[in-house]
Amino acid sequence: VLTKRKEHFISARWKSEKSRVEQNNQETRTVNNELSGFSSFEEMIETRRSEARKSIVVQVHSEQSCPELYSYCCQFGTVKSMHHYTLPGPSHYVIVEFGKEEDVYNVLHNSGHLDTNQIVPVRSPFLWFRIGRGKMKMETPLSKIPLLEIDGNNSPSNDDLYSWLHAAESVSDQMRILHEETSLTSLGSRLRFLTALQIEQALSGPFPRIKAYPFGSTVNSFGKMNCDLDLVLELDKEEASSDCRLIFHAKNSLTNGRTQVQRHMETIGDICQLFLPGCANVRRILQARVPIVKYRQELTGVECDLSMTNMSAVYMSELLFVLGSVDKRVRPLVQAVRTWARDVGLTNPTPGRWITNFSLTLLVLFYLQQSLPHPVIPTFNKLISMASAADKIITTEGVNCTFVRDLKAVKKYMDRQPKNTELLEDLLLKFFEYYCTFDFGSHAISLATGTPIPKPEHAALYIVNPLERGLNVSKNVSLEELERLRIEFRNAAWALEAYIKQPTGGGELWGLVAICQAPKLQAKGKNVFYIPPKLTEKPRRFNVQELFEEDLNVKDVHEK
Ligand code: CTP
Ligand code: MG
Repeated sequence: VLTKRKEHFISARWKSEKSRVEQNNQETRTVNNELSGFSSFEEMIETRRSEARKSIVVQVHSEQSCPELYSYCCQFGTVKSMHHYTLPGPSHYVIVEFGKEEDVYNVLHNSGHLDTNQIVPVRSPFLWFRIGRGKMKMETPLSKIPLLEIDGNNSPSNDDLYSWLHAAESVSDQMRILHEETSLTSLGSRLRFLTALQIEQALSGPFPRIKAYPFGSTVNSFGKMNCDLDLVLELDKEEASSDCRLIFHAKNSLTNGRTQVQRHMETIGDICQLFLPGCANVRRILQARVPIVKYRQELTGVECDLSMTNMSAVYMSELLFVLGSVDKRVRPLVQAVRTWARDVGLTNPTPGRWITNFSLTLLVLFYLQQSLPHPVIPTFNKLISMASAADKIITTEGVNCTFVRDLKAVKKYMDRQPKNTELLEDLLLKFFEYYCTFDFGSHAISLATGTPIPKPEHAALYIVNPLERGLNVSKNVSLEELERLRIEFRNAAWALEAYIKQPTGGGELWGLVAICQAPKLQAKGKNVFYIPPKLTEKPRRFNVQELFEEDLNVKDVHEK
């Protein structure tokens, strides 16, 4: 299985360089999965931003262009690493990371346009490598290229993945493999930070201090390969100090802040559409609670959601990052639950009345705050109480985002607590069991206290937003979807309990594969291998309106 997993990283033409490339690919993957070495979220963000500023993206003919591109780039600076990736087409690209930002200025200064009458002559770190003419080709032997990664965005097919999971030793092992193979890789992070940098640089003329902050699954450490990029733009937040006497002339803001944001977003949408290479399928969704511009960056293969007034979402991502760092079981557990939810059709990429990945993640974290015999992660109130003066953050919208940000301090605190030593697979099973019996009808989920609290207002599923406690993160979830969620929790608990061990006879699905793949197999009319007799009875559907009129809670519905 291991050999097969490794072979997956290497394209057939590169077999002779197999061991080196393989080692590089494995190294970069491991670094990302462990997110090792970062002492805080801020450090991780700054490292990724700095990598992006020192990088260019070059479209090439194939991975075989790497040696020539390397030699060409070495004229302008020190090449630190090269990361090749492919996008459907197939088209080939290489991220070339230089030692210094000046090297990138140097490269861009020595790059040019073809036929300015035919194109919008934008200069940016997105380039293509034309075939060398006249001069002899310069090539560096592959073995001399530092940190070369080939096909870094090559994620396993579902068939491959499930065959590796099938051959794993235990469900815990399956969860670790799933996490390793499907988490956002360091190349995935690079592509997303380069996409963010493009929009930042495009607006940096009038706003030299602009920052495009990635948030959501790109940075919260729960991201998968191919996850979208959520971005928030902050134009400039520094006010003049009292002894500063020269003040910039500037236009007055519109009195209606929302109208202003909508107008700005509209203009930014136009800039993306008209000027920025690779930005395609630009959609302006300006009437939403948070106005956004959506687009696809075709040179990095990243789907982007851009907003301007959502800084608290960045701190929410930081909170998830901190909680994900507390214990090495947190991320594989979240990944397993997110994969299961996707496979059984509980989540859906389009927004709607179903649970989102974000809400699901909060459900897992809440469970880990009260797992037995001891919690795996601390409550949010604990993180607040541990905050230092430097951790105090209040956004311009007045949201208090103060909590401890030093990962070592949180780990140290947990080390002093009674330790939870449950296996990953036991945590997964107990997670399903916990929510099978959770009283969603009258209780809300509060990560602040780490305990269920009475529901502040009517909603099928109530998850208190830890940063803005008056808001329900899962307000969108309908009663029907909640009921589906409960049924699936129960199905998964039963199936996992029954099929937690690898069958000695081979053949049969087991563990994670059983809980993820069973509904699909059933739909295809294949062997239904685990559903206990009780569940074959189809749950009765109720008219939701009728239930609201009767003012029943979920528990009542269930009983009825
Ligand atoms: N967010 C929030 N409150 C909500 C919804 C979202 O604070 N009610 C923030 C969270 O930080 C979340 C981010 O916005 O992580 C992005 O939301 P979304 O893209 O829906 O979730 P992701 O975590 O990015 O997951 P996915 O991989 O499905 O994109
Ligand atoms: Mg997202």
